[in-house]
Amino acid sequence: MKGLVLSGGYGTRLRPLTHTGPKQLIPIANKPNILYCIEDLRDAGITDIGIILGNVMPEKVQEFLGDGSKFGVRFTYIVQGEPKGIAHAVNCAKDFMGDDPFIVYLGDNLLKNGIGAIPKKMTDEKADCVISLMPVKEPQRYGIAELSPDGKNVVRCVEKPKEPKSNLAVIGVYAFNSSFFKVYPKLKPSWRNEMEITDAISLLIDSGYKVAPHHVVGWWKDTGKPEDILEANHLILDSIQPSNAGKVEEGATVMGRVKIGAGTVIMASSVVRGPAIIGENCRIGPKAYIGPYTAVGDSCQISHAEIDDSIIMDESVVEVEHKLVRTMVGKGSKILSSAGLIPKGERLVVGENTTLYL
Ligand code: DAU
Repeated sequence: MKGLVLSGGYGTRLRPLTHTGPKQLIPIANKPNILYCIEDLRDAGITDIGIILGNVMPEKVQEFLGDGSKFGVRFTYIVQGEPKGIAHAVNCAKDFMGDDPFIVYLGDNLLKNGIGAIPKKMTDEKADCVISLMPVKEPQRYGIAELSPDGKNVVRCVEKPKEPKSNLAVIGVYAFNSSFFKVYPKLKPSWRNEMEITDAISLLIDSGYKVAPHHVVGWWKDTGKPEDILEANHLILDSIQPSNAGKVEEGATVMGRVKIGAGTVIMASSVVRGPAIIGENCRIGPKAYIGPYTAVGDSCQISHAEIDDSIIMDESVVEVEHKLVRTMVGKGSKILSSAGLIPKGERLVVGENTTLYL
């Protein structure tokens, strides 16, 4: 079985973070979302993986992932370019897949319990396609599946229905065999002008292929919006294992489950309360408070500030007597004190599509 991870799309709801790279590279507990997907595939025994590249700085994906050897897998890069739909992205991988069955993983999805059960389901059910399902509160936001009365087969999938027939969301992990490529030429673009994966699944069903449901156990997150990323960060940090490869100075307090990277110093008079992760070569302090569900990337400097439930990305500086909550700070950003500067007032250089609550 092969794998396919999608890293295309525009990520408009995550601007400005997606002005400088694809959303799948945004760190969640200090690890890009796409890497969780790749590790899930690898842990399910799938090491031959195609990576779909979009047109938002795709070179950053290649630079980060390389040939796959450092993750114990092998990557083949496939250019989709313009995001013409998930089914279109999958069809771009036709030559790479050949006659092999494969798993498609959306690079902005995150699952607590991995995907190990899906290849087995495909074999056990002798299915042509397996879709992963989870009940959701807002079915209008997702692809929604309708099952046969005995619950063994999927009878229809509809993308973001206005009047959903169930609350079972089709989540971003699917298994297919080569029947996908046989039906794809008959697929038509949707109302939003995309080749929808849900329409491709319905087309498989209408063409007589077997589509089986897989009910996912544990949490699942689609990290399409900033609040989803913070929520995903929360969920991952909930099970973080504490470790300390850095230095906690005398007079500093580290409580709860905290992972501290090599070269990082937690200075006297600072407090870190887990669950939290702090990357390598950071300086935390003086007088810093890093609270629960916060991830601080590598080479950051934080002093005088209180930070809770937030993501501070690599090489950022926060040196201001303020409390930040549910905040995301992009790589290399600086939040400094305006005290003593004349004229008085906040001084902001705000990039395009940024939202600030002051
Ligand atoms: O997260 C689950 C949902 O994902 C499903 O319930 C929906 O059926 C499915 O259509 C999808 O909905 P979204 O509206 O969230 O899809 P989005 O446009 O965010 O794209 C999902 C991922 O696929 C994302 O990592 C970007 C990537 N992508 C998307 C498109 C449209 C591509 O690589 N190429 C594309 O052309």
